[in-house]
Amino acid sequence: MNHVNAFLKDSKTRVELVLDQVLPPITHRPTTLHEAMRYSMMAGGKRLRPALCYAAFEDCGGQGDAADWGASALEMVHTFSLIHDDLPCMDDDDFRRGIPTCHKKFGEAMAVLAGDALSILAFQVLARSGNAQAVTILAEALGSDGMLGGQVVDIESEGKPCTLETVDYIHVHKTSALIEASLELGSVLAGANAEQRKLYRDYGRAIGLAFQIVDDILDIESSTEALGKDVGSDIENQKATYPAVVGLEESKKQARILVDRAVEFAGRMGPRSAVLADLARFIVERGN
Ligand code: IPE
Ligand code: IPE
Ligand code: MG
Ligand code: MG
Ligand code: MG
Repeated sequence: MNHVNAFLKDSKTRVELVLDQVLPPITHRPTTLHEAMRYSMMAGGKRLRPALCYAAFEDCGGQGDAADWGASALEMVHTFSLIHDDLPCMDDDDFRRGIPTCHKKFGEAMAVLAGDALSILAFQVLARSGNAQAVTILAEALGSDGMLGGQVVDIESEGKPCTLETVDYIHVHKTSALIEASLELGSVLAGANAEQRKLYRDYGRAIGLAFQIVDDILDIESSTEALGKDVGSDIENQKATYPAVVGLEESKKQARILVDRAVEFAGRMGPRSAVLADLARFIVERGN
């Protein structure tokens, strides 16, 4: 796991430099909004989606800074999704990335606007790649047939008995969609063809679902200190989660099966194959 930690650290440093350049300075009007955007963006986080984008880009032989636009756009839309996900009208959570949530610090209106501004800035930045296909991939991953669709069914399923088919729909849409897009963006920005891209998507689907299953497990088994966000939130909100539907042990088993499948896909990849296999293993072994 050593090189995966080094890879995650390097990707984090790289994307944070780009983010610092593209986010408006807090001295620029409207200062409150810019402060709120930077507050949530710069609070840390694993930066997993940028790392996946860089890994796929390098695996496909990409060169230059094109992946920086993809990686920073991904982290901005991801952070937008977290800010809105934490709002009182959604999951109503108070902590995120080790600090009070955006709405706790800046109020609900500013948190809604900061999320909006980040999602729009993301597309402005991604457009710098000059790659229309990349813009389409990100838009599809986020829209009503992607992340937003998953969030809708997540909210509508609260407090109701849920089938495995529904929880799979929720998880694949609210979480895997953006993770798959992270890999596909990296490959598209490197000039990969449709056949190559399919392999990254298949790998992304497997790790994305595993990632959300592990997130559900950590909400039960971890602590607020370790996660930097509220634990027990899913049970409190009676969420449709893997542990709620199939139990903890079966959830762990399913996550491991998905990661094994992803490692197999990674075995068919190029020069970054070992890192991509370790990134898949990291999904189940992570402590936060
Ligand atoms: C949290 O994502 C939301 C989910 C999709 C489960 P992360 O666990 O990647 O959050 P950060 O970016 O590290 O804070
Ligand atoms: C969030 O799922 C997925 C998105 C933000 C799109 P969760 O609601 O489980 O994420 P956490 O646990 O609050 O990070
Ligand atoms: Mg949620
Ligand atoms: Mg939540
Ligand atoms: Mg969760």
